[in-house]
Amino acid sequence: MQIIITENHKELSKKASEIIIKQINKKPESKIGFATGKTPLETYKNLAKSKKDFSRTKAFNLDEYYPIKKTSKKSFYFYMQKNIIKPLKISKSFLLNGGDKIKKQITEYKKFIKSPDLIILGIGANGHVAFNEPNSKIDSKTRHVKLIHKKTNAITIGIKEILSSKKILLLASGTTKAKAIKNLINEKISARYPASFLKKHKNFIIILDKKSARYINKEK
Ligand code: GLP
Repeated sequence: MQIIITENHKELSKKASEIIIKQINKKPESKIGFATGKTPLETYKNLAKSKKDFSRTKAFNLDEYYPIKKTSKKSFYFYMQKNIIKPLKISKSFLLNGGDKIKKQITEYKKFIKSPDLIILGIGANGHVAFNEPNSKIDSKTRHVKLIHKKTNAITIGIKEILSSKKILLLASGTTKAKAIKNLINEKISARYPASFLKKHKNFIIILDKKSARYINKEK
């Protein structure tokens, strides 16, 4: 596990976009899983501004509410189109969506996400990654889940599939994520903190800003 603490969200976004661009330089046809959410938005804007050619990149999302319309601005499908697929001109992608039959989507998604090069993650305040909430299993795969704090259900990539990526990049920013980051870094690996499973990975990079890093016990 490598931990990079940056000054603020802008610096975090700069660092994250540099790592993603380095990956594309090395392998233009990289298969990348993109987190949705506020945290990586500026990172994705930097990618678009870089004018780098992402046309050969293979993209997938990590989760989606179910049911939700593809056209809903709250859907991750919409977010992916708006912030990744269109601006980066990506031609090959598989996006989980909140409308099509779950079983069929999961079968196709599992095929598409085989051997990922990079997965970019955010983290929930309760330590979830994608929609792997507390008590998710280390060998979990893509599945239909019920969300703890929301009335809706969702589809999520599993922990096992995240761990199958060659590289994992987790981004966290702001005080609302500070506890989750402390648990991830300082506590033992456990299903109570699903993100902690990622510490088993050889190539796991965490990029934080000062606010999300405030409770880390640096001695450990
Ligand atoms: C959601 C999503 C995650 C996302 C996380 C953090 O619950 N399921 O995939 O990474 O929240 O989102 P944000 O970056 O907006 O804080």
